[in-house]
Formats: sequence, C-alpha cells, structure tokens
Amino acid sequence: MHDILQSTAWPALAARRDALLATNLRTLFSTDPDRARRMQARACGITLDYSKNLLCADTFALLIALAEEAEVPARTRALFSGARVNTTEDRAVLHMALRCPPAQRWLVDGVDLADAVHAVRRRMRAFAEQLRNGTWRGHRGDTITDVVNIGIGGSDLGPAMVCEALRDHAHPGLRMHFVSNVDGVQIGDVLRGCRPETTLFIVASKTFTTQETLANARVARAWLIDSAGSAAAVARHFVAVSTNAAAVEAFGIHPDNMFGFWDWVGGRFSLWSAIGLPIMVALGPERFDALLAGAHAMDEHFRTAPLAANLPVLMALCGIWNVDFLDLPSQLIAPYHQRLHRLPAYLQQLDMESNGKSVRLDGTPTPCRTSPILWGEQGINGQHAYFQLLHQGTQGVAVDFVGVLDPGHQDEALHRIAFANLIAQAEALMRGRSAAEAEAEMRAAGLSADRIRQLLPHRVFGGNRPSNVLLLDRLDPHTLGALIAAYEHRTFVQGVIWGVNSFDQWGVELGKQLAARVLDELDPASAAPAFDAHDASTLGLIERYRAWRQ
Ligand code: F6P
Repeated sequence: MHDILQSTAWPALAARRDALLATNLRTLFSTDPDRARRMQARACGITLDYSKNLLCADTFALLIALAEEAEVPARTRALFSGARVNTTEDRAVLHMALRCPPAQRWLVDGVDLADAVHAVRRRMRAFAEQLRNGTWRGHRGDTITDVVNIGIGGSDLGPAMVCEALRDHAHPGLRMHFVSNVDGVQIGDVLRGCRPETTLFIVASKTFTTQETLANARVARAWLIDSAGSAAAVARHFVAVSTNAAAVEAFGIHPDNMFGFWDWVGGRFSLWSAIGLPIMVALGPERFDALLAGAHAMDEHFRTAPLAANLPVLMALCGIWNVDFLDLPSQLIAPYHQRLHRLPAYLQQLDMESNGKSVRLDGTPTPCRTSPILWGEQGINGQHAYFQLLHQGTQGVAVDFVGVLDPGHQDEALHRIAFANLIAQAEALMRGRSAAEAEAEMRAAGLSADRIRQLLPHRVFGGNRPSNVLLLDRLDPHTLGALIAAYEHRTFVQGVIWGVNSFDQWGVELGKQLAARVLDELDPASAAPAFDAHDASTLGLIERYRAWRQ
C-alpha cells in the first residue's frame, strides 16, 4: 500500500503551501498574463477554467508528479480492464462498460460484457417506446400518464437529476415522479396526484432489500390493488430494476417485468444501467444513447489524455490541493442553470459515499484528509443566502461554478444576467476588495470620514478564495453525460491518491442495522427495550415515541 505522505511530491507540495499563501491570486494573475489561457482544459463540450486556484506552475507540476507517484495511470488501466478494484466487496467496477458504443466489445476474463449490456438495453428500449407511444396499457386498457420511480440513493439521485436537467426534452404526455423518502409524505403527495389505472411504478433497487424503497413500493402496490380489486393488475403497473431477481419475484413482480444489471455497477454509478430506465422513458431511447455517448467520450478522454490536459485529473488535483494543503474541507457546487439544481445532491452521494473514508485499502488509517463536505444548490439562490460566508466567513470553501453557454431558451437577457453573476462571483472570490479600494469607493459615494472608518472593516473582502469554472457549451444529453463522467473520474482519481476504496460504502451499514432494531422497539405492542439496551438518550427517544403512540 503506497503511503502518499512518503511520496516525493507530497512534502514538496506542503513546502509550497506557505509560499503560495504568502502571495495571492490577484498577484498571480497580474504577474502572469498567460495564466488564464494556460490553466484551461477542454473536452467533450466542457471547458474547465482552473486558473482561479491558488496554484502556480511549479505547484501544478508537483501535483502531476503526485498523480504519477500514486500510479493514477496504472490504476486507471486496472479499472478499465475489469480488475477487482473494489477489494472489500471483491468486485470489478465497470460502469464505463455500460456506455461503450454498440459495436464495441468489452472483454473481461474472456466474457463480453457488452452483449449482456445491449440485451438489457434492447428490452429497456422496447418498454420505453411502448410507454411513450401509448401501447403499454394499464390493467383497464388506459394509456399510462404517470411514471413513478421508487428508489433511493443511486437508484434515485441520478435518474432524478438527469430527468430534471433535460426536462425540456421530456415526453409531454408522461409525468415523471421520484419517490425516495419513507416518511409517508412524499409518496402520499405523489399518489394523490395520480390515478391507479394510468400510473406505472418502477421499483429501482440494486439489492432489492432497501427498507425505504420496499416500504414505499408496498404502499404503492396496496394503493393499486385497492383500486383495481385484484393483484393481477400489478403486472401492468409495476416493473423492477435490480440485480436481485429472486427478491423481485418474491415481491410479486414477474421476471418479464424486471430489468437487470450487475454487481460490477455500483449504486452511485448506476444511472447508465437499467437504473436509467426513467431517463429513457422520459427522454426517449435516442437521448439516453446520447447521454451514454457523452459519458463514453469523457471515458476516452480520461483514459487517453495526458494528465496535465485531462479534465477529471485536473479537477481531482485542484480538489486535493484545496482539501489537503489549503485546509479547505468544504466544496460547493454552484450550478447557474435552473435545470441543474439537482446536480449538487447527485454529486454529494458520488463524492461523499465514495471517498468519505478514513481507512485505506489495506485497512490502515488515511494519513490525510479525504472527501470534502460537498454541498450546494443553484448558484443564484446561494448568492442571496450563504455566499456571504464564502466571501467573508472564517472558513474557506472551494467552489465549482457550473455554467451553460447556450441556455436552451430564447430569453438572452435573463440568461446574460445569470451568466454575469457566475463570472462576477468567481472574480469576487478571487480578487476580493482591498481596504484601499473599499475606502476609495466609499469616498466616491460621499461618505463621511467617520462613517468610512466605521464601515471599512466590514467592506473589505480578503479574496484569494479558489474556484473552478466548468462551462458547458449547452445542456444536452451528450454534454451532461460527459459532465457526470468527468465528476465520476475525478472521484476515482482522488480516491487513488488518498489510497481509499472509492467503491464500497460500509459507513452506511451501522445506521441501517440499528434502525431495524429500533423499528421493532417503537412498536407499542412489543416489549419496551431493556434499560441497558441503549444509551439513556436513545432510550428516552424510543420511550417518547411509544408514549405518543399509546
Ligand atoms: O445506503 C446506501 C446505498 O446502499 C447506496 O449506496 C445505494 O445507492 C442506495 O443505498 C440504494 O441501494 P439499492 O439500490 O440497493 O436500493
């Protein structure tokens, strides 16, 4: 197991940190007229401007050396070759095979994965087309008008994000709904707006054991049977997406209505598999293909471009620099296109479930900080909420601004306002406002000397706060596919450098186990938990609930 702290590059980077903190981005820009041009990369319809990171040429070269010492190229080859890089689950990680072009083979141990992938895709296509052209009918012969995806985590976030991002291309006669929460409110709201005879449910769960998903699916099934008067209706109103055929059948969904995938597709990387069925239904098979093609184009870029011009690698290295050397453990994703407002939630799972780890592949503790806390929402709203902290707070946050050049609508004036704000926010974070500038502004505005003295500390912006700008040429399936794949590979590269397994998620287990036990204990018909079954706080909360039920 490599120890990244023992590499040559790591201590050299640490030594550069103080020198860079002693300067600032403004100076780096003013002393290097070529900086913005040099610190840009472009691939698959996406331009990355990473020049507003507190890096200079020698730091950048050291980061590239770090990636080489961590064997990013070799690990990338291993990933694509089907090596079992998910060691704790003894699995290969091959979501990239889901997006290989129809004519391409994907051989792993002599088996062509592409065959199986395309066979499932053909069935998805046939089904999606029937829904879209109205030939798939409900149990009474009605056309389907509402499609409800019931799933959580990777079985929800990717399809929901993509359907939202590309909803301008969605089928006008099919309303898409996504239910993930198990509190009863979300499914209640959705069912109230649907009619059983015209609603189709997609139960999406890789394992088909997820408590929340199965509970919601049972509610939906009861709602349908209640109205239809017979369980036979399930065959026309329920399909499943899963790797667990036995559990799907046990739930009462016929294997003919199941779309499978494989254990080499991780949940948070699964929107390219049958988990993407809602995307194909909403947008049509051609657009789903274009999404896959965009992701494949990014796979090829990632696999073949030199590290210094490789978009996902550059994004990863800027992230490592910010998290581990500049002590910025927080990463904001700020999309400036309304349709991308679900992107931060999607990336949150991708990044934090993948790299939110504190042990390395060999089980030893990670010697450095790993995944940042990733968060965010649509950028313009953020400006009028938490951007205050970004500009003047005591904790630094690295930002990814995500913009779209061609907004896909005609209102150029509004688009220009949004775009101007994106550019201005990145500039403001970078350059800040010095005391001299703030003072000059206030003097020009006619403020008294007393008032200027009083206000001055409040009106100074430190600046020097790093950001990337990711500019999409347009928001179409191809470019969105490429963007998602770029973030996937960014996550992978960071995981390689940190030495963690980016493809398992043991950290979600304990809460699930405890919830199963507490669920029984909340039942007022069951015996109250023994006084030593939990800590006093947990016991008190259980008792409060039981008392309320009684
Ligand atoms: O609890 C976390 C998780 O296992 C995610 O990794 C996964 O995407 C999600 O739950 C849903 O799992 P499933 O698709 O098996 O229902």
